[in-house]
Amino acid sequence: MLIRLLYISRATGAITTTVTGSILESARVHNRVAGITGVLCQGQGLFIQVLEGERSTVNRLYNTIIKDKRHQDVELVAIDEIQERKFPNWSMAHVIISESDPIIQLKHPEFDPFEASGAQLSSLIDDLLKLSTPIN
Ligand SMILES: Cc1cc2nc3c(=O)[nH]c(=O)nc-3n(C[C@H](O)[C@H](O)[C@H](O)COP(=O)(O)O)c2cc1C
Repeated sequence: MLIRLLYISRATGAITTTVTGSILESARVHNRVAGITGVLCQGQGLFIQVLEGERSTVNRLYNTIIKDKRHQDVELVAIDEIQERKFPNWSMAHVIISESDPIIQLKHPEFDPFEASGAQLSSLIDDLLKLSTPIN
């Protein structure tokens, strides 16, 4: 049974390239083996992540991630049973969120993930992915 899980969180410290690099490194190694795909959006002191995969695997990973000290205020936004993956080719795509991004300014001007609905966040992620070149 496949599921897609979306959560948001706040970084505990500055999100440096070292922090992001180490998260993505373990994500890519582990996710490939575990059959997890998804996207990690990061910026403005925030994380927005989508995890797709078998329900038990996604839950196991989510339970690990929420204990990670590199972020806090982890909030589960949506969890859906899915027929197919939205991000089948990405063990963890990486997208930078920037307030000066035209997508955010034009389409999501009052951008605050903690106030946004799951549908708004999904559409933001889709928009960011369309216009950026996510790193596979
Ligand atoms: C915002 C955020 C997203 C993360 N995403 C993943 C992920 O998709 N896959 C993963 O294996 N670890 C992810 N992690 C890291 C895990 O919390 C944990 O550190 C890691 O799985 C341990 O891997 P290691 O044994 O290689 O150090 C994430 C951490 C943070 C803070």
